[in-house]
Amino acid sequence: MPKTTLLPLLASGEYRSGQALADALGVSRTAIWKQLNALSGYGLRIESVKGRGYRIPGGIDLLDEALVQAALTPAAAALLTRLQVLETIDSTNAEAMRQLEAGAGAGLVCTAEQQSAGRGRRGRTWVSPFARNLYLSVAWRYHQGAAALEGLSLAVGVAVARALAANGLPAVQLKWPNDVIFRGAKLGGVLLEMTGDAAGVCQIVVGVGLNVAMPDSAAVAIDQAWTDIKSISAGTPPGRNALLAALLNELLPLLATFEEHGFAPWREEWLALDAFADAPVVLHTGAQDLAGIARGVDERGALRLETASAGLQTIYGGEISLRRAR
Ligand code: BTN
Repeated sequence: MPKTTLLPLLASGEYRSGQALADALGVSRTAIWKQLNALSGYGLRIESVKGRGYRIPGGIDLLDEALVQAALTPAAAALLTRLQVLETIDSTNAEAMRQLEAGAGAGLVCTAEQQSAGRGRRGRTWVSPFARNLYLSVAWRYHQGAAALEGLSLAVGVAVARALAANGLPAVQLKWPNDVIFRGAKLGGVLLEMTGDAAGVCQIVVGVGLNVAMPDSAAVAIDQAWTDIKSISAGTPPGRNALLAALLNELLPLLATFEEHGFAPWREEWLALDAFADAPVVLHTGAQDLAGIARGVDERGALRLETASAGLQTIYGGEISLRRAR
């Protein structure tokens, strides 16, 4: 779907008359009205006041490809093959996967202002309101099969934590396998999806969702404790473009080198960020609940769980979730 050309003109939050908008875009008032309708369809509140025109109260911080490109490190810029900034999509992970299947190469980044069917782990929906949070997916190709990618999702969590620290945000923690949390509330999540040959050439999409300024109207659909960058920032929160660039500055080099070095070089940093280190936990595997003490992760990224009955066990990822025991 083509982008709504009107949106950047309203992003500042100032009133613009219908005629001024039509003149700026060289289109008719009817065309403007159609675009305003489309924007309302995205859940954006457009205020219309007779004699003043239209505005988006409070304005919006739109994603801007040029701003992101300009804030990339040389290393990240060299690894990026395409940066796609979409207005709306079902899921950036699904889109990146479609593009990989259509022949796109490693280094494709797909982001969107809104996801209509954002995917979370364990079949959950990822709440993805328009122009408020970050939804990004990075595509990569690997050659040594899935085994060489063990621990990648944990390393992605570390990369996200680094990117937030680089923007002056307070330290976040990680919850195995890869939730990004702040004081017990979820700030972001990571979803890895893979296709191809599990023992040979495979394509992977690394999806990251980060709550930046979650509106209350969207948050009602979230069924767990959550927070956002706006709430955890001591001063003015960083903009979404700066955050997106910082994420790519960490993620692209990570993805480019992971197959060679694996999770081992990331393990110490992951352990230092572990929100559940030595805490009593319950592991929900679907079939059963397993209570024990979380003892960090091994060099492959597997959870080390100490249980009363079986001692130290190693648990690999998948459809498993971890909760602090009450
Ligand atoms: C989780 O459940 O914690 C993982 C959430 C991952 C959400 C991101 S948003 C960008 C990408 N596209 C998706 O559909 N999901 C991931």
